[in-house]
Amino acid sequence: MGSFLSKNEFPVDGRTVLITGGSKGLGLNAARQLAEKGAHVIIVARDAGHLQQGIAFVSKGARSPDVQRFHHISADVTSAAECARVVAEAVEWNHGSPPDIVWCCSGSAHPSLFVDTPLPQFQTMMDSNYFSSVYMAHAVLSVWLKNTSSLSSSSSSPAKTAAIDDGTEEKQHDSAASDAEAKPPARHIIFTGSFVSFYSFTGFAPYAPSKAAVRSLADSLSQEMNLYATALPHEPRVRVHAVFPATMPTQSLDDENAVKTDVTKALEEGDQILDPAECARRAIAGLERGLELVPTSAIIRLVMTSVLGGTIRGGFWRGCVDTVLGWLTMVVMVFIRWEMDVKVARWGRENGVSGMKKDR
Ligand SMILES: NC(=O)c1ccc[n+]([C@@H]2O[C@H](COP(=O)([O-])OP(=O)(O)OC[C@H]3O[C@@H](n4cnc5c(N)ncnc54)[C@H](OP(=O)(O)O)[C@@H]3O)[C@@H](O)[C@H]2O)c1
Repeated sequence: MGSFLSKNEFPVDGRTVLITGGSKGLGLNAARQLAEKGAHVIIVARDAGHLQQGIAFVSKGARSPDVQRFHHISADVTSAAECARVVAEAVEWNHGSPPDIVWCCSGSAHPSLFVDTPLPQFQTMMDSNYFSSVYMAHAVLSVWLKNTSSLSSSSSSPAKTAAIDDGTEEKQHDSAASDAEAKPPARHIIFTGSFVSFYSFTGFAPYAPSKAAVRSLADSLSQEMNLYATALPHEPRVRVHAVFPATMPTQSLDDENAVKTDVTKALEEGDQILDPAECARRAIAGLERGLELVPTSAIIRLVMTSVLGGTIRGGFWRGCVDTVLGWLTMVVMVFIRWEMDVKVARWGRENGVSGMKKDR
């Protein structure tokens, strides 16, 4: 939750959260922490064995084990049809109501030198990181924004639906009436970027554009949602976020390190490594503060401030601080780019074009 003075902009207690990539790493830890805050959770990934282990771990964290519900769906989210199936299954499991929050967390990286990368790998990166986000967003936003008369978020909690089923609904009538007068809590869609969404460097050509596109998707949808906020005033507002994780020791990182060249590793030296649980905690704290773009480390925040453009700044004071930081960072980035260019040029002179150290 935010500070005791600020409102929690991301309440999850009694709400239903769907997380792609929820069987491992950041997605799994986010799922567990949201369960600890009272959410009903659905995790999505391809491998059924990991999903079962994952959902057991997530459900152990439930704040109210008698009330909260947990589900897992095996699907490849690089397919639009599979994303539509996932959303349909989630709606059915959730007693006919769509999830309130969808976090597109699945993804992968293949950092290698551009001309040494097989062409299909560029497509794979866009599918894994960008199109998976597009397809999941399209599937869930279509349900949230197009079927508004048949699906309403105020009935979206399975606990509430269960109350209707067992006849206790009348007792809740008074509080429900006052609920109806209040605006329903916002729905959220969260995308997952990376440091390289803001600043790329040697070796990240196959991966960085897919994560930069994710940031651009979040920016575009965040603006587009204003249309629905006014045209559908009785529907929950849709808030769009992008989270930018720091480097985490996960399966994804092992996979990317297997193909990463020595020159790219040298450029990354000094990178801050965050445990996925801590990264999830920082991401959720940023969402609770109401941030649209959520950096999870100081260095990501600094670099982000230099390329914020028209992004919503997250309140007056944070906006002022980020604007000043952005001015400073724009100057610092000139020297960072110069230093990295010098390092890469020296590497080429000493080791040749493979990106690997000569004496290995
Ligand atoms: N680790 C880092 O250092 C780092 C840094 C910056 C950004 N990120 C980003 O943060 C996110 C989470 O990364 P992570 O390191 O936590 O990953 P991870 O531990 O490797 O987990 C990836 C998750 O995504 C699922 N997944 C992958 N491809 C999928 C597909 N096509 N369909 C459905 N599920 C799929 C995996 O399960 P299955 O394989 O069973 O499908 C797994 O649950 C990713 O978007 C990643 O790009 C990571």
